[in-house]
Amino acid sequence: MTSTAGQQRARFAALDPLLPPPPPLPPGDPVEAGGAAGTIAHVRFASGSWQRLWSPARLQILSAILPLDAGAGMSALLSAWRERIALADTAPDSSCTVTWPSRDVVVARALLDHGLAPQLALAVRAPAKGAAHTVSGVTVRDSTHGDLEEITDLRFEELRYTSFVGHGVVRPGAKALLAEEVRRGLHFGGRVWIAEEEGVTVGMVTGGKRSPVSGDALAGRLPPGEWGYLGTLAVTAAARSRGIGRALTAVAHDELFSPSLRGTFVSYNPTNPLSPVFWHRQGYRPLWTTWAVSPAAALR
Ligand SMILES: CC(C)(COP(=O)(O)OP(=O)(O)OC[C@H]1O[C@@H](n2cnc3c(N)ncnc32)[C@H](O)[C@@H]1OP(=O)(O)O)[C@@H](O)C(=O)NCCC(=O)NCCS
Repeated sequence: MTSTAGQQRARFAALDPLLPPPPPLPPGDPVEAGGAAGTIAHVRFASGSWQRLWSPARLQILSAILPLDAGAGMSALLSAWRERIALADTAPDSSCTVTWPSRDVVVARALLDHGLAPQLALAVRAPAKGAAHTVSGVTVRDSTHGDLEEITDLRFEELRYTSFVGHGVVRPGAKALLAEEVRRGLHFGGRVWIAEEEGVTVGMVTGGKRSPVSGDALAGRLPPGEWGYLGTLAVTAAARSRGIGRALTAVAHDELFSPSLRGTFVSYNPTNPLSPVFWHRQGYRPLWTTWAVSPAAALR
């Protein structure tokens, strides 16, 4: 007899060839309903921490193994989860999240019906060099320590924009946290490319290489091997829609490329009116979607 985990592995493989086999359920409070099994992990980020710029202070993360009728299974699990939330303290500044294959639209229906909204997409692109693109008068170059202030300003602008359309939260001290992160990144050799026009910084993109390692955030999300990634991409509001983002991305793709690379990945907010269309035109497509709801909203 095929186990539920085996059925889920087969479903994932049929849904999307890039999905790695699903790992076992991570530690957390067990929850079972409608033939589905799950765990709820509770995470709390420290006050003043870097993570709180990109997340509510508290997270409940649901992981699931669903039966063949995956939509009904997810729906039953979410109802059971909701009953638990109703009994617990619905703390402000908190969120419940589920990360699920983007192409599993049957499960997307159940998530929408339970009030969850798509919050973050992990999108992938086949390995390829960047298609060269230049913008007249704009130079793209590697950053140096002298660019720290401009990079921090652009990252702050990106955080501010993301706070309206996704998971960013502009908290007190955000700029200092960003500056520290930029300083650390530059010190440890993280790549940041910047676009300059008449000596003024008009855009930036960060990038690097990572391989999923058992227990880290990429394990179970991407097939094993070396992946390139692009992190923060931002162009100043006045310079947008002139091809500067595309020029930055082309250089980053080019420099990250190697024949053994499995591909590149990015994260974006599906409700951002600028970035999904941009990334899709650069060859990315969603693999995983993180769905979220605040406990208070889930109980309405
Ligand atoms: C996303 C962002 C970096 C794009 O930079 P940009 O310099 O404006 O983008 P480009 O001008 O290079 O656009 C490249 C392509 O995307 C298309 N495009 C860009 N924005 C678009 C939009 N809103 N609607 C339709 N197409 C769009 C362009 O037509 C262009 O396609 P083409 O070159 O094939 O004609 C910029 O909008 C930005 O800084 N947004 C705010 C911060 C943000 O959202 N960052 C991304 C977080 S993941």
